[in-house]
Amino acid sequence: MKCRKCDEKAVIHMRQHKLALCKNHYLDWIPKQTQRFIHDNNMFSTEDRILVAVSGGKDSLVLWDVLSRLGYQVDGLYIGLGIDGGNGYSAESRRITESFAAEHKLDLITYDIEEHEGLDIPTAASLTRRGRERPCSICGLSKRHIMNRVAIENDYDVLVTGHNLDDEAAVLLGNTLNWLTAYLQRQGPVLPTRSGLVKKAKPFFRFYERETAAYALLRGIEYMYDECPHADGAKSIYYKVLLNRLEADRRGAKLSFYLSFLRAKETMSFNSEGDDVERMLHPCTSCGQPTSTPDLCTYCRTWKEVRDRRETMLEQGIES
Ligand code: AMP
Ligand code: FES
Ligand code: ZN
Ligand code: ZN
Repeated sequence: MKCRKCDEKAVIHMRQHKLALCKNHYLDWIPKQTQRFIHDNNMFSTEDRILVAVSGGKDSLVLWDVLSRLGYQVDGLYIGLGIDGGNGYSAESRRITESFAAEHKLDLITYDIEEHEGLDIPTAASLTRRGRERPCSICGLSKRHIMNRVAIENDYDVLVTGHNLDDEAAVLLGNTLNWLTAYLQRQGPVLPTRSGLVKKAKPFFRFYERETAAYALLRGIEYMYDECPHADGAKSIYYKVLLNRLEADRRGAKLSFYLSFLRAKETMSFNSEGDDVERMLHPCTSCGQPTSTPDLCTYCRTWKEVRDRRETMLEQGIES
């Protein structure tokens, strides 16, 4: 098959767009499309200081690459989770992220959870009931908290993440199957800033996972192939499998599911729960970040629970 724009051989065929492109035209197409999504959704401008959360996976590294190619002022944030010890998952993702930053002369902030909290994520998860049931829950809440805190403390205007269409459609399916109206109300490619919370944007929300993977491969970006070992059995992966089946039967189904939701949201209101939560936000008595829970925010409360439990176990001579 030939490229739609020249005589070269096409390297990718995006059936949902009825578009086949050669390597060079594909490597141009992704930044152009990204720029259009940023503009159409009022995400940010070249005046803004942007912080991109980089995991070492393809989406966030490709996003960092594309935003810097587009001329945005964009620094990276890597959060060290301490998964699988010295040469394991986290160490390797950090090495990949640091080497990308060095190669492209980009600034990277690294924030190591163990350094700040005294324990890595797997150990912390094993010490809470919620964490033992779902190790990713303490991880997710910690990442969200740290991303906001680092962005606010360092005066960034917007925090961006590498979430792609597959991620967003899977979250939407989960929210819809359970009719989580407050989450549906807040789901979208841009979350405006509000009392103590930085503006958040997901510039890749319209790209399929295979499109960002193809860009990484064609641009020679080294990325972490492995999924987090704790992701096994996660609901989001199951939802992605279901959506892939749907997509295989009906090209463009994922894109249309997500875009139709965004269109419907313009005219439809789920409920006002989200607004009530916003009105009730107040600073956490320990870290000062906005929270709707009384006294401590969920991050401080969870980590306090972890440290207390650890202390009790040490007193009783039990190793975690
Ligand atoms: P995930 O929740 O792992 O699918 O990741 C979604 C997005 O969160 C990624 O595209 C990154 O932008 C960000 N992210 C995930 N893990 C990290 C991390 N360890 N450090 C910084 N950002 C991360
Ligand atoms: Fe955090 Fe899996 S437990 S990425
Ligand atoms: Zn071409
Ligand atoms: Zn707090």
